[in-house]
Amino acid sequence: MDKKEYVKSLIDKINYHSYRYYVLDDPEISDPEFDGLFNELLELEKQHPDLVLPYSPSRKVGYKVSGEFKKVEHASQMLSLSNIFSRGELEDFDQRIKKLLERDDAVEYIAEPKLDGLAVSLIYINGIYARAATRGDGQTGEDITENVRTVRNIPLKLLGEGFPEEFEVRGEIVMPVSEFERLNKKQADQGLKTFANPRNAAAGSVRQLDTSVTAGRPLYFYAHSFSRLSIKGVKTHRDALDIVSEWGICVNSSVVTSDISELGSYFEKLTEKRRIKDVNIDGVVIKVNSLDFQERLGNIARSPRWAIAWKPPSQTAETVVNGISVQIGRTGVLTPVAELEPVRIGGVEIKRATLHNASDLEKKDVRVGDTVVVERAGDVIPAVVRVTGEKTGRRAKPFVFPEKCPECDKKVIRDGVNFKCVNPVCPSRIKESIRHFVSRDAMNIDGFGVKLVEQLVDKNLINSFADIYRLNEATLLMLDRMGAKSAANIMEAVNNSKKTSLERFIYALGIEQVGQEGARELAKKYKKIDALFNADESEIESIEGFGPNIAASVAGYFREKANREQISGLLSLGVNPVFRDTSLSSSLEGLTFVITGSFEDMPRSGIARIIEENGGKVTASVTKNTSYLLLGNEPGSKYEKARKLGTKIISLDDLNKLIAGNPQTR
Ligand code: IVH
Repeated sequence: MDKKEYVKSLIDKINYHSYRYYVLDDPEISDPEFDGLFNELLELEKQHPDLVLPYSPSRKVGYKVSGEFKKVEHASQMLSLSNIFSRGELEDFDQRIKKLLERDDAVEYIAEPKLDGLAVSLIYINGIYARAATRGDGQTGEDITENVRTVRNIPLKLLGEGFPEEFEVRGEIVMPVSEFERLNKKQADQGLKTFANPRNAAAGSVRQLDTSVTAGRPLYFYAHSFSRLSIKGVKTHRDALDIVSEWGICVNSSVVTSDISELGSYFEKLTEKRRIKDVNIDGVVIKVNSLDFQERLGNIARSPRWAIAWKPPSQTAETVVNGISVQIGRTGVLTPVAELEPVRIGGVEIKRATLHNASDLEKKDVRVGDTVVVERAGDVIPAVVRVTGEKTGRRAKPFVFPEKCPECDKKVIRDGVNFKCVNPVCPSRIKESIRHFVSRDAMNIDGFGVKLVEQLVDKNLINSFADIYRLNEATLLMLDRMGAKSAANIMEAVNNSKKTSLERFIYALGIEQVGQEGARELAKKYKKIDALFNADESEIESIEGFGPNIAASVAGYFREKANREQISGLLSLGVNPVFRDTSLSSSLEGLTFVITGSFEDMPRSGIARIIEENGGKVTASVTKNTSYLLLGNEPGSKYEKARKLGTKIISLDDLNKLIAGNPQTR
C-alpha cells in the first residue's frame, strides 16, 4: 500500500472508532489504543504535509482564523418552534394536525428531547464536511465552518455510502453540565470570564476567532432536523435520524408513538430531571413522523405546523420588592416594573420583573417591601406572579402612577388599563421605537444595540428612523467606546438594511397591534408601502385575522401626516422595501429541480429558495424523477447524468418564465 492509501485507511480506522465511541457509545478499542492511532496519523502528516486530507481528524485541533465570520444564506429557512405548556395543548395540537390532514385515524408522532444549546446547520458534500453556519435570523447565519470542525463528535467524513451529493443536517451544539462546571472553575482560577449557563458557554465557545480555543472546549453536536431531505427509502423523521446515525452523526434517543398518553409519560420522564445524559433540556419536541405529512402540513411564519415544543412549567423564585419604577414603551404606555432584591432563577440573575400594567398591579396589590413570587419562562421577560404571605400589617402605600412622564415631564393620561405618555417626541418613546425598528425581526441592523441607540438619542444625533440613514462614520466615531472597525461595520449594516422586504418594513414601523404576522398580511394585500397610505379601514378589516381594532390602528397610523412623512423620508434616503411573496405560489408545484454549476447573480441556495417558495422541490441528484436540470456555468457531473437520462435542461431565464407561468420549455 502506498503512503497515501495508508493515510486514508488510517483515517478511516480512526473515524470508525470515533463512531463506535460517540455514536454507538460502545468502543471496540481502549483510549490509549485510539490515541496510538491518532498519534501515528499526526506523525505521518508531519513528515508528509502533502498527505493532510481535508477530512483528516487532525484538523480538529483548530488554528487562528483571520478576520470575522462571513454571512451565509440558508438554503431553506432555519425554523423555530411554537411552545405549549400542557397536556391539553398537546391534545389541541393533535386535533389540529388531524383536521389539517383530514384524518380520523391516529397520527404517528416522534418525541425527542429539546436540547438547550446553539442551533447550527452542517453541510456535507459527497460525504465530506463542507460548511457549518449559525441559525442567525433563520435566513442568514454566520459561517462557523472552522470552529465547528473541531467539535469532537462531528464526523469530517461520513461513514458508509448512499448519502446525497449535497446534504444538510441541522442540530444543536451543547456542553454537558459537569463539563460546563469544570470549564467555569478553570476560567475563574485563571481570572478569565465565566459563563452564566451551559448554553452561553457553548455559544461563546463556538464564536471564537481562534478555533483552537473551540477545539479545547467540551462541545457535542446532536442532529434533530434536515433541510430538503430526499433519500430513497427514508419516509419518516425516525428513518432520517437512523440513517444519519449510520453515517456517523450523533442523534438523541427518541420515541415513536400515536398514543398521546405515551407522549405525556415521555415528557414527564424527561423533564423531571431537565437533563439527558448530563445535557440540559428545556422540554420535549413533538413532531409528525411521516415526512410526507410534514410536507403537506408545511410551515406557518417561522415555525413548522408539524412540530411543537412542549416545555415544562416555568421556574419561579421568591424575593423582596425594593422599589417600583415605570418604563415607557414605544407607544407611550407606562409599564410598572418591580426592582427586586437580586435572585437567581435557572442560572440567571433577576433584578427586575414586569408588573404588566396598572390594572394588573392593582389586582395583585404589590407594594414595596413585599415578598413576591417571580417567574421566568424561557426567553420571556421575568414577571411578578403574586405577593406571598400576609398582606396585612405594616405595608407600604399602594403604588401611584406619576402624573408626569418621568422621561419628558409631559402629562400622563389614563387610557383603559394603561397610563400613557402622549408626547410623541418623548426620548424614551423614541429610543424604544428605534430599538424596535433596528431589531432582528424588523430592519435587522446588526450591531445597532440598545447602548448605541441610548447614546445616539441622548446626544440628539438621531430622533427618527430616517436619521439612522443620515448617520455617517465620523458621527459614530465621536461616541464612547466606538472603534473605526465597529463604526464601519455598523454603517455597512445600516446600508444593507435598505434592501428589505415590505413585511419587515411594515413591522419595523411599530404600528400598534401590528406584529410580524399582521405585517405579512398587510404586505401581501397591499404590495407597496404607498398603497397603504390611502387604505380603507373596512378593507383592512376584511383581511384575515384583522378585527376592527387593528384596522383602526393601521388606518389611523397611515392617516397621520407625520407618519407618512417619516416613511417618505425613509424612501428618499434609499430604503427600498420590496414585496416578496413567500406564501407558496404554486407555479412549480409537483416539479423537481436539480441545480448544477454557478450563476452570476445569485448563490445556488438563493435559487433553491425561490424554487421552493413557488412550490417546487430541489434535490441533490438527477434521477428519472427529476423534472428539470437548471444549468449554470461550469456544470458538474449532474449535467452528464441529466443528458444521459434525457432530463429537460433549462436556464435561469427559463426558470423565471416557469415561475411567471409562461412555460416555454414544457
Ligand atoms: S426541530 C423544523 N428538534 O429549538 C423544526 N429543534 O425553539 C426545527 N431544538 O431552533 C427544530 N432540540 O435549534 C428541533 N429535538 C429538537 C430540538 C430542537 C432543540 C432547538 C432548535 C430550534 C429551537 C426552536
